[in-house]
Amino acid sequence: MAAAAELSLIKPVNPIRPFGRPVVRHPHLKFRIAAAAAAMAPQKPKKAGKTSIKETLLTPRFYTTDFDEMERLFNTEINKKLNQAEFEALLNEFKTDYNQTHFVRNPEFKAAADKMQGPLREIFVEFLERSCTAEFSGFLLYKELGRRLKKTNPVVAEIFSLMSRDEARHAGFLNKGLSDFNLALDLGFLTKARKYTFFKPKFIFYATYLSEKIGYWRYITIFRHLKENPEYQCYPIFKYFENWCQDENRHGDFFSALLKAQPQFLNDWKAKLWARFFCLSVYVTMYLNDCQRTAFYEGIGLNTKEFDMHVIIETNRTTARIFPAVLDVENPEFKRKLDRMVEINQKLVAVGETQDIPLVKNLKRIPLIAALVSEIIAAYLMPPIESGSVDFAEFEPQLVY
Ligand SMILES: [Fe+2]
Ligand SMILES: [Fe+2]
Repeated sequence: MAAAAELSLIKPVNPIRPFGRPVVRHPHLKFRIAAAAAAMAPQKPKKAGKTSIKETLLTPRFYTTDFDEMERLFNTEINKKLNQAEFEALLNEFKTDYNQTHFVRNPEFKAAADKMQGPLREIFVEFLERSCTAEFSGFLLYKELGRRLKKTNPVVAEIFSLMSRDEARHAGFLNKGLSDFNLALDLGFLTKARKYTFFKPKFIFYATYLSEKIGYWRYITIFRHLKENPEYQCYPIFKYFENWCQDENRHGDFFSALLKAQPQFLNDWKAKLWARFFCLSVYVTMYLNDCQRTAFYEGIGLNTKEFDMHVIIETNRTTARIFPAVLDVENPEFKRKLDRMVEINQKLVAVGETQDIPLVKNLKRIPLIAALVSEIIAAYLMPPIESGSVDFAEFEPQLVY
């Protein structure tokens, strides 16, 4: 996963819950970041030098699902539509492990980190933390799916395990990046302390498909931009994005194959409503998140809103090849709605930063949340684009560029 967990809006918070199931929120949970060497293995958080990230509505989430239902879905005796030959082809692709030797660091990393000072350094650390959490979230989910599906469908199970290998690599590489800033995310602590959001399998498919594809488009867009504008290349991690994003693309293609094998998730009116809902959640979450962090995108020479709109439009076009309906994100009204949501969200953030007592803060939030919800619903109800195809032949896994 990459932009994993660009889905936080689905995890409902207070009244922002247009369609989702109620889930518990833990606003005071803080992550510990031990000032220790990065490691994937669980470790005790160290007291010295640790810092914390405040969990908010838009913090990346961890997911869990109904593994028994997953087993039924991938049982070849129950589901005759499972195209095992296609999954075997995908498995071979994953076994090839194109990026086995890609994630190798060099002395440039530490030197670049040392040069970065002031607000850019701070926002950069946050970027590494959030990306690492998102990748790690994918690692945990795929690893568990690999373990649980071993008996019913060893081929699909092995693909999940190999995808968790990729995500562990991504998360580990980002965590090593944090060590350049004398920090490390305590992933063992994170695994135990975080709350997991439950999604039924069909929602896991929509959500992870979108996360992988949006991750692909984010990484490749940043890579291409920095290749053209090397003066903004402030930290070498971006040079790795070209091959890295191909991992995300392959992960997305695998979910596309999984969805094809479960046409009941694609071919009725409910599927269309959910497809639009997941698209909207992912796009809105990303847009609001990134607009709170314009310093990061400006720091690498990007215009945040232009970057996000490009990523949304491309992701939506890719998604339209498999989802039965998508949003009309190229309609200028869609962007206008997103921009209004950003304004409201900024006011919400400002309320949170005041010295008011919680009751007063909550009272001030009510009209803002109502306004945000009504913008979200209005965006959801915009005329959608019918998409997907009954004939799935063209959806063979392929590189997008
Ligand atoms: Fe990843
Ligand atoms: Fe991925």
